[in-house]
Amino acid sequence: MKIKSAKFIRSYATAESMPDSKEPEFAFIGRSNVGKSSLINYLADRKNLALTSSKPGKTQLINTFMINGDWKLVDLPGYGFAKVSQKRRDKFSDLILSYLKDRKQLYCAFILIDSRLEPQAIDVEFVEWCGVNEVPFSIVFTKSDKLKKNELMHNTELFKAALHKSGWEELPEMFVTSATKNTGGKEVLGYIGKLV
Ligand code: GTP
Ligand code: MG
Repeated sequence: MKIKSAKFIRSYATAESMPDSKEPEFAFIGRSNVGKSSLINYLADRKNLALTSSKPGKTQLINTFMINGDWKLVDLPGYGFAKVSQKRRDKFSDLILSYLKDRKQLYCAFILIDSRLEPQAIDVEFVEWCGVNEVPFSIVFTKSDKLKKNELMHNTELFKAALHKSGWEELPEMFVTSATKNTGGKEVLGYIGKLV
């Protein structure tokens, strides 16, 4: 799969306001600051297609991009960002959940996991929610440039174990990426290419 063209379409504040279009959609979701927008830019080979930031909570809307004129990349807002107060974390916003649950055009949600961390309860919970709601998804470990090979192995194995523990018998497709070192993108695009 080669990306020949990538164009921002528009942003939406609700899933319901998105048009009933025909193109398959591939969404990127994960904790705030996990690297969703950076991964999209790397995959599309465009520096500033999706806006990135070192501060969490940059992406607040559903941003859509047309790729090669025939499928769409969807940048979703992150979850788990304590914006209002430390107590009231807006865990998974309605915006994210209604898009994932109701969007017929969604072929795959890539759930991004920060490879530097041991399994986080909120991520495991989010994967569980996707399973219960029959959302098609894959896992993408991000920021793999930040750690040594054995540390990376350790964290990805722990994550798999956490999924097994929460009841997954068959594990989903998994990818390891670095948007800084440009690695793992070919595999993600290859996977998308098989589905479109
Ligand atoms: P929100 O939109 O706020 O939810 O964040 P996001 O998930 O879109 O993250 P974003 O792509 O904006 O990246 C957050 C920070 O992580 C930025 O400072 C990026 O430069 C950094 N980052 C993203 N991907 C990588 C990576 O693969 N390696 C390293 N080292 N840093 C990365
Ligand atoms: Mg973002």
